[in-house]
Amino acid sequence: MNQGKGRFVTVEGIDGAGKTTHLRTIEQAWREAGHEVVCTREPGGTPVAESLREMVLHQPMDPLTESLLVFAARRDHLGQVIEPALARGAWVLCDRFTDATFAYQGGGRGFDEAVLSQLEQWVQQGRQPDVTILFDLPPAVAAARLRDARAPDRFEAQDVAFFERVRQGYLRRQAADPGRFVVVQADRTPDEVGAALLAALRERGVA
Ligand code: TMP
Repeated sequence: MNQGKGRFVTVEGIDGAGKTTHLRTIEQAWREAGHEVVCTREPGGTPVAESLREMVLHQPMDPLTESLLVFAARRDHLGQVIEPALARGAWVLCDRFTDATFAYQGGGRGFDEAVLSQLEQWVQQGRQPDVTILFDLPPAVAAARLRDARAPDRFEAQDVAFFERVRQGYLRRQAADPGRFVVVQADRTPDEVGAALLAALRERGVA
């Protein structure tokens, strides 16, 4: 087992970008390399945060309430799971993190990003992912992929215009901190996307 400095990698993209499949690709590569791997998700990852996730995904609420709940979930998740894992040298793979809040609540819902930045500082105390993988593709393609999926939650049920705003929200976050992001073009076959992803991870020293 490799010991040493932990890594914090987050995976992002609009609903239907295909990230679930590729999370498994990353997990497998890390396990084969001998790292302690912690796979987790947001909102969620602890009992408190999973309860908040249920509310956020299924109960009607205004954008400030939604933002407060995802940051409350994040606070618990960081304290209970992410920070302890990084402290013992684990490699943490998180399915969505704060970029999703800026993309969905900021971009999609049009909520005030200055308030989100304040919450980000309070909750994260400077903690940011080492690398963020953003699966990017046109929302119309993602929508076609989602059409046959399970019963949609409050986000999946949104229209293409909402997801175009979410996508632009992600791309603004990437433009503001390009060194942290790897943008993977997801409008390709799963094999092509997986190969591009693994190459990018190796280049960033997170493979
Ligand atoms: P998932 O289906 O990819 O697990 O994500 C759950 C949904 O929650 C997804 O539609 C994006 C949304 N979400 C937010 O709106 N804000 C957030 O901060 C996070 C982490 C997710």
